[in-house]
Amino acid sequence: MVSLYEAVGGRPTFALIATVFYGGVASDEVLRPMYGGADADFSAAANRLQLFLEQYWGGPSDYEELRGHPRLRMRHMPYKIDRDARERWLRHMRSALDSAVSAGSVPPLFEAELWNYLERAATSLMNTNG
Ligand code: HEM
Repeated sequence: MVSLYEAVGGRPTFALIATVFYGGVASDEVLRPMYGGADADFSAAANRLQLFLEQYWGGPSDYEELRGHPRLRMRHMPYKIDRDARERWLRHMRSALDSAVSAGSVPPLFEAELWNYLERAATSLMNTNG
């Protein structure tokens, strides 16, 4: 069995997704302040997201070595994640995934699987209605 990580092209694909995604976050007036505003270190945050996604999809476990157990819900508690924040996050992630699809490394079946997971994960991290 080949992991999804391998099937979509491994590290370069996840690096592309994280880079494009954080480019979108950097230009988002609602999300940007959550990541530290003008002083945000987007490359460090992009790296954490990249390593997490790689590990989740069967790639190397660098994330765990760097950060320990993901505990994503707990780690997102400091941020106000309402419907608007979720939609914005997913919009940037959609562009990121589209870039990887355009690059030719993500077959449609895996694109659907990735997207389905990202939508559900984003819903699970919502922590406020207001
Ligand atoms: C729903 C909207 C979301 C918002 C507004 C949001 C916001 C944030 C913020 C502000 C951070 C801190 C940046 C940093 O220093 O790393 C963060 C970290 C992180 N997020 Fe999200 N996030 C969302 C959804 C998600 C989803 C769906 C996933 C996974 C599929 C995810 C995975 C991560 C990971 C892995 C980290 C780094 C955790 C760590 O090791 O400290 N996030 N997020």
